[in-house]
Amino acid sequence: MSLLSISLLWFLCCLIITTTFIFKTSADLGTTSQRFFYFCDQNNERGNYTAKSNYARNLNTLLSTLTSNTRIDYGFYNSSHGENKDKVNAIGLCRGDIKPEECRGCLDQAKANITQLCPNRKEAIGWYQDEKCMLRYSDRTIFGLNETEPAYYMCNMNNATDADKFNGVVKNLSDKLRRKAAAGDSRRKYGAGTAVDDQSNKTVYGVVQCTPDLSEAECDSCLVESIKGLSSHYCNDKIGARMVRPSCYHRYETYSFLFYDPSTHHPSPSPSPSPSPSSPSPFPAPSSPKATPSPSSSLLPPSVPSAESPSSPPPSVPLSSPTPSFEGVKTSSTTVTTVPLLLLLMGSFLFVST
Ligand SMILES: *[C@@H]1O[C@H](CO)[C@@H](O)[C@H](O)[C@H]1NC(C)=O
Ligand SMILES: *[C@@H]1O[C@H](CO)[C@@H](O)[C@H](O)[C@H]1NC(C)=O
Ligand SMILES: *[C@@H]1O[C@H](CO)[C@@H](O)[C@H](O)[C@H]1NC(C)=O
Ligand SMILES: *[C@@H]1O[C@H](CO)[C@@H](O)[C@H](O)[C@H]1NC(C)=O
Ligand SMILES: *[C@@H]1O[C@H](CO)[C@@H](O)[C@H](O)[C@H]1NC(C)=O
Ligand SMILES: *[C@@H]1O[C@H](CO)[C@@H](O)[C@H](O)[C@H]1NC(C)=O
Ligand SMILES: *[C@@H]1O[C@H](CO)[C@@H](O)[C@H](O)[C@H]1NC(C)=O
Repeated sequence: MSLLSISLLWFLCCLIITTTFIFKTSADLGTTSQRFFYFCDQNNERGNYTAKSNYARNLNTLLSTLTSNTRIDYGFYNSSHGENKDKVNAIGLCRGDIKPEECRGCLDQAKANITQLCPNRKEAIGWYQDEKCMLRYSDRTIFGLNETEPAYYMCNMNNATDADKFNGVVKNLSDKLRRKAAAGDSRRKYGAGTAVDDQSNKTVYGVVQCTPDLSEAECDSCLVESIKGLSSHYCNDKIGARMVRPSCYHRYETYSFLFYDPSTHHPSPSPSPSPSPSSPSPFPAPSSPKATPSPSSSLLPPSVPSAESPSSPPPSVPLSSPTPSFEGVKTSSTTVTTVPLLLLLMGSFLFVST
């Protein structure tokens, strides 16, 4: 517990879920130790298939062949299998900095997890390992749709020192990347880049991405929503944030979290996935799968707190969530009972229901 107490001074992530959303889907969303965030048919509209059905067979075939076209090196896989009501549609999308082999590996793992975690559900969506890849399938058409839900967001709870200036830098960077991504072709709608906030001398790393089957206008509007939402509502003045939706992705941090960008061939400034010591960030985390899988945030190893953020902020939204657990923390009665408090003190990780 003392480790946790110390950690929570540095690590600010809390878990806030809109109440209506929880009640609707608490049994159907969660995370795993592979940092897999998933929603099983959020609105419970698509129904279930049975183990021996044509749908089950089609889904199985589709998922096992989804990434088999190794000529696809741009990280977007979309295909269908089956006829009429047994037809299954699937999309696999990797974050733009992920290499082709890693992408296929990510999707393969996501596939195994999602079918296990959403058994018999005709529709499901999940993001694997810090959104390295997204996998979704449904019996309805999902290609070329601008879909903004289900979604989640996370904020680094550290405030920017000069928030107005920092926000301006983030806004400029995000808008530049948004235009670049929206203008991308039907294989790739992605933008990544950096900007320097000369006030704090911090480099801001940004990434935006859409599924490339969107039109330019759809991609743009999905990202506009995300950028606006993070900056004006969900994570205002924060030094890091992400908004994750089926159709588009937006994230910025003050440390590098991208590893590979084929569009620039520049190695990322920091090849290490670990955040710089001065910029702790919440991550989606681990909880063992259970009847009510839980969204949660993980503890990173303690690190030097940044000078401008000596302590944790109080939560701005009341916490209401299923029982969460943390990476590195054994699930025990103590842990479980302290977790809500930790979450309150530790920052923000939200599921957006609207
Ligand atoms: C599908 O199965 C889930 C979990 O077993 C259940 O909660 C849900 O109500 C079912 N949906 C339908 C439409 O039957
Ligand atoms: C997959 O998406 C591409 C555009 O990105 C489109 O041309 C192709 O028809 C799609 N495939 C299916 C099966 O919808
Ligand atoms: C997720 O998949 C990995 C390997 O693909 C497996 O080890 C792990 O147990 C799975 N987790 C869940 C919750 O299904
Ligand atoms: C953002 O871009 C505008 C227009 O290019 C520029 O005037 C402004 O100074 C920039 N703001 C920041 C904080 O970089
Ligand atoms: C930022 O860096 C420049 C040059 O490296 C330095 O002159 C300046 O004092 C730094 N500003 C802050 C706020 O640290
Ligand atoms: C995309 O979806 C969002 C949310 O439903 C909506 O506000 C926006 O207008 C849509 N964009 C386009 C181009 O249809
Ligand atoms: C960040 O700013 C908000 C609003 O001004 C404030 O309530 C909160 O305590 C601040 N958090 C930190 C870590 O300073």
